[in-house]
This record gives sequence, C-alpha cells and structure tokens, in this order.
Amino acid sequence: MKNMKLTPSLRSLTGELTIPGDKSISHRAVILGSLAEGTTKITNFLNGEDCLRTVAAFRLLGVEIGEEGSTLHIHSNGYSKFNEPTEPIYFGNSGTTARLMLGVLAGLPFFTVAHGDASLTKRPMDRVVVPLKEMGASFNGRNNGNYLPLAINGGELKGMQYTIPVKSAQVKSALLFAGLFADGITEIIEPAATRNHSENMLEAFGANITRQGNQININNGQLKATDVHVPGDISSAAFFIAAAAIVPESNVTLINVGLNETRTGIIDVLTDMGASITISNKQTVSGETIGDITIKHQNLRGTVIEGDIIPRLIDELPIIALIATQAEGKTVIRDAAELRLKETDRIDAVAAGLTQLGANIEPTEDGMIIHGANQLNGGFVSSYNDHRIAMMHAVASLIANDDVTIDDVSSVAISYPNFFRDLESICN
Ligand code: S3P
Repeated sequence: MKNMKLTPSLRSLTGELTIPGDKSISHRAVILGSLAEGTTKITNFLNGEDCLRTVAAFRLLGVEIGEEGSTLHIHSNGYSKFNEPTEPIYFGNSGTTARLMLGVLAGLPFFTVAHGDASLTKRPMDRVVVPLKEMGASFNGRNNGNYLPLAINGGELKGMQYTIPVKSAQVKSALLFAGLFADGITEIIEPAATRNHSENMLEAFGANITRQGNQININNGQLKATDVHVPGDISSAAFFIAAAAIVPESNVTLINVGLNETRTGIIDVLTDMGASITISNKQTVSGETIGDITIKHQNLRGTVIEGDIIPRLIDELPIIALIATQAEGKTVIRDAAELRLKETDRIDAVAAGLTQLGANIEPTEDGMIIHGANQLNGGFVSSYNDHRIAMMHAVASLIANDDVTIDDVSSVAISYPNFFRDLESICN
C-alpha cells in the first residue's frame, strides 16, 4: 500500500514537459519486433509495468530483449524458433498484453498457460477467445475460456471473415496478429474506428495487410525487423492537459505527443468545451503523427460525449469527468459501457471518488452525467488499484480546498512510473 496525502496548492502549472512513450505502441513494438527475424531497436519505449509484461512474455518464448533505459534491443530468430514455455506466462494487470498475446499464442504450435492478477482475472477474454477458437486454436478456462488462467493449444489457424461485435482495438489487434500465422486471408470488420497502431506498425514491418474503410485484410507471411520510435502517450499527457485546463493561470506545453487521430478525442472534446489548445511542430515518426500540445486555463462549458468518439478517448474518460466537474452546465457521457470492464469499473470508481470530493456526478449504465461547476473538497479516496483513477485523483487534489488522500498510488507504475515527479516539475 502506498498511501499518498496531497495538500492543495492551487499553484498554476507552467512550463514544458516531455511525455513518456505510448503504452499501446510500446506493446506492439515488442510484439512485432519479437515476431520478426533480426534485430529491432525501440526508442522511447515505455518502461511501465504493463509493457514489461509483454517483454517478459517474449523472453519466456526465447526472444533476447536487452533494456538500456528507454531503449530496447530485440534479437529474434523469428517465431518459427520460439520455445514452448515450461512455466506459465504472467500478464499481471495488463489487458493489452493479455488480449494481444492470446492472438499470438493462438498461432504458435505449442501449449501455453497464461494467468494474470486479481483484476485481470475478472476481465472478459471471450472477445478474443471466441474468434480465435473459430480460427482453430484451443482455449480452456473458467466459463468456457472467458477468464484467465487459460490453457492454450495454438497452431494450424485458418483465416476467416469476422465482424467484431465490440469497439476494441485489442480484439482487432489479436486477430491481426493471429492472421500472421493463419492459412489464407483474415478479414476483419470494425464497428467503429479504434486505435490503428497495429495496422500502422504491421505495414512498417512489411506484413501483407490492406485496409479499406472499416475493413482490414491480412495474409500470413514473414515480418521484416524495423526500428521503432515510440511517440509520447496522449493518454498520459491527458492528466496534464486536464490539470492545465482547470487550474487558473496555467500554461503548459507537452512535447512530442502522439496525435494519431484515433486517439485525439480528448482534444476535440476539450475544444468543444471552450478550452484553449494549440498544436505545433507536427511531424510523422515511425508512421505515427506527433506534435506539441499547448494548453492554457480557460473557463469551460459542459458537453455531450457519445457515439463513435468514445473509442478515440476511452482511456481519458475518467480525467474528462474530472474536467467536467469544473465546466459550467451539464456534461453527459454515454455509449461507454466498456468503462465497466477496465482495470476496475471506471464508471463506479469515478462517480464514487468525485462524489466523495464534493462533485455532482451520477453514474449511468453506460456513462455518467456531471453537473458543474463545483468547488472540490478534500477527502479520502480510493484508486481501486487503477492507475488512471489514481492519477485523476492526484489532478483533482490541485483544485480541492483541503487535503486529498489516495489510498494507494502504486498502480501509477503501470503506465507512468514518474508521474508524480513530472507533475511536481510543472507546478509553480
Ligand atoms: C488498448 C485498447 C483499449 C484501451 C487500452 C489499450 C490497446 O482497450 O482501453 O488501454 O492498446 O489496444 P479496448 O480494446 O478494450 O477498447
């Protein structure tokens, strides 16, 4: 338990901050770098606990991965030389490691057992297990293979056409990776655009992939080792974007942040709420758009967040809910029932925590309704061991009128090990 008491300061946030590497892209770089024969160098890799689970998984399969700060060197003999692991693979808290690795393990012609921590063990895996079984892999676990631990017999996959029933980049990616091993073409149809880092990186690694609208086709084939530079994570930047948006007299520039448009929903929503945001130094690095985001404090108004924008800001909804407590009028979030299936039930966790601090927020089946603007109070809140809930409360403490104590902040190491250091560095 790492209990943390944060004393309100109402210090403005000013200056520049370089945001650490993107979690989604770091996972994918390790996966494709390990599947490809040869040497892949990854720079600005996120050394968070989740991404290190993916590294550990490939080490168990026999891939040599060297770490030097935020640079990884992957030396792989290609997936045909992977070893059948003699011990279970541990995914920890990482839903992305779990879903994406199940796609890979489905394609490998051997037996594996995979397990996770208490939170991950409660999260549904059938969204990937059902289509992967249809492709020919075998999964055994509780509830017909819906929950970890899972026993997997992979290999001899067949391509298929599949319309994904949930808006999930993890499901899409698992099927794309399985498609690398399958006989024939795997055709995937998405119900709405979700983050497309897997597609971008598969192209960079020379996969046989084509995309048209919401359909992606992939054929089997070898990958070509390619160096990857990981952009800063907009989902981590979101906490400073929020802090600058709600703390008076703030003016912050976040450097080298990933601006892939499947991820920038938070910028669109904040702009709609009246925030002052400017983007500069836009460029493309390793197939991804990056740039600097400058945000200044400004009065905000409520908005409605629904429909196809949801996958473009799914991980930012907790911090957007906090921003909405400081906006005049009503903010409605709907079509976001997926939030109930994250590291914790983020609808209940956000509503309970912000209510505790004096916000007026109602949880609904698929989102929340927030009535602003309210002065936040101090209080004792829980992170529910969820990194994004812990960081949301840390930002809330900046505008509270008394101490905010968070029960346990150790989970920030999942996606942002130096979060508190970086926050302090821009608080005046
Ligand atoms: C992720 C996809 C999203 C997101 C998660 C990372 C990814 O999950 O919430 O943090 O890297 O593909 P879903 O696919 O469940 O929407």
